Formats: sequence, C-alpha cells, structure tokens
Amino acid sequence: MPPLLEVDAVTSGYGKVEILHDLTIGVPEGAVVALLGPNGAGKTTTLNVISGTLPVWQGEVRYDGERLDGQSVYDIARRGIILVPEGRGIFPGLNVRENLEIGVRAGGGGESRSARLESVLETFPRLRERLSQAAGTLSGGEQQMLALSRAFLGNPRVLLLDEISMGLAPRIVEQLFESVDELRRRGLTIVLVEQYLTYALRFADICYVLSKGRIEFCGEPDELRDSEALASSYLGAG
Ligand SMILES: Nc1ncnc2c1ncn2[C@@H]1O[C@H](COP(=O)(O)OP(=O)(O)OP(=O)(O)O)[C@@H](O)[C@H]1O
Ligand SMILES: [Mg+2]
Repeated sequence: MPPLLEVDAVTSGYGKVEILHDLTIGVPEGAVVALLGPNGAGKTTTLNVISGTLPVWQGEVRYDGERLDGQSVYDIARRGIILVPEGRGIFPGLNVRENLEIGVRAGGGGESRSARLESVLETFPRLRERLSQAAGTLSGGEQQMLALSRAFLGNPRVLLLDEISMGLAPRIVEQLFESVDELRRRGLTIVLVEQYLTYALRFADICYVLSKGRIEFCGEPDELRDSEALASSYLGAG
C-alpha cells in the first residue's frame, strides 16, 4: 500500500532560487515521521510545499493517492492536513477561547464542537485557566499548547509540526511531546520538524535527514542513532 502522504521527486524554492532538489518522502498512515537537519536545510520549506503555501515546480505531492500539489492552501487544510507553523501562528490580540474557536470552526462537522473543545482542554488544563487571557501574553510554552490545540480542533488527519519545541524549557517540551504521542494514539499521522534529536529519536517511527535541500538519510531512529558520523556531520551534538 502506498504511504498516506507522498512527496515524490519534488523540486521547489522561492522566487528563482531552487531550495528543494528532487525530494522524496513517504509518510505512512498513523506514523510519526521526523524531518531533521541543520538550519537552512529545507525542513520548513518541505512543510510549506505539503501544506500548499509554496508551489511545486517539478514532481508531485500525493495524499490518499490523489494529487495535492496545485490545490489551494484552504482545500489542503480542509482535507485534513494541518500545519502548526514555526513561530506558532496564533492570533496574539485574541484571547485563548477566541483562538480555539477559530480552530473549531475550521474543523467543520464530525464530533460536536463543544466535545472537541472539552477534549483539548483536558489535554492542556493550563489553557482552561486562561481562556479569557490574550494569547500574546501567554508564556512561550502555553502559546505552543494553544497552537497545538487549535490545530487539533481543525479535525486533522495529518499534522505538520514545525519545531514545536523552539525556545522552550525541557520540562515543557516533554509535556508537548507527551501530547503529540497522545494524538498519535488517537490515530493521527504526524510530520515533525525537530531540532532536538533526542525527542525525534524517541517519538518518530521514521527519520529523514535533510541537507541543502536533499535527503541525506532515511531510516528508523535506531539506524540514525547508530550512525554517529551522520549525526555529527548533519545534526550537531545532542
Ligand atoms: N521566503 C523565503 N524567501 C527566500 N528564501 C527563503 C525563504 N524562506 C526560506 N528561504 C531559504 O530557503 C532555505 C531553506 O530554508 P528553510 O526555512 O526551509 O530551512 P529549515 O531547514 O527550516 O531551517 P531552520 O532549522 O533554521 O528552521 C534557506 O536557505 C532559506 O534562507
Ligand atoms: Mg525551519
């Protein structure tokens, strides 16, 4: 069976500058796939291509066997592929409840809206205490919880997470990854860009290492863990 999500020989970039060169990535249904690699490797660009924010120049992106490239960001999100962007993408001037309501609205029908809201507030009780607080005044970790919650309320089938651990204390990162693991147990498919190798190795089923817009490695976390040369040349310490 083909993977749920396939990036197939994709070339793309910004303006005239080619950033991704003939990139191929397979994301099986229910898997957590980690995209790793140094700054500027093209990890965020890859998520932009999948979510439709950046056009595909050559190659194809397929989802459930159908072409995704060429579809609008809106249509791609409506099909259940939801991006949590680097830097969180919440509305700082709106309060927590308003931010969550945007997610619930994006998610359309299915399980009742209030039930979905209740379920994320159970996962992140700190948000419940802060429903009327402006999102921009939340701590970094709380903002990340809000971004994850909002994405989850959009009824995703695939979550694209771009460095959710960015700038957060290890204890908070731990908590976020526990919630990501919980989402996986509920059947979500997750593509994770992560700077902390330890978390990626612990939570991912498949790792891709990118460098300069190309795949340098694809395999299971154990294989990557064993490849010290690879880890030190592309990923740095940690
Ligand atoms: N909007 C843009 N316009 C032009 N070039 C861009 C744009 N966004 C990214 N780039 C370039 O594309 C390359 C890949 O960037 P990308 O953001 O995908 O890297 P990344 O792997 O996510 O890095 P990081 O770990 O620092 O987030 C970089 O050289 C970057 O400068
Ligand atoms: Mg990035």
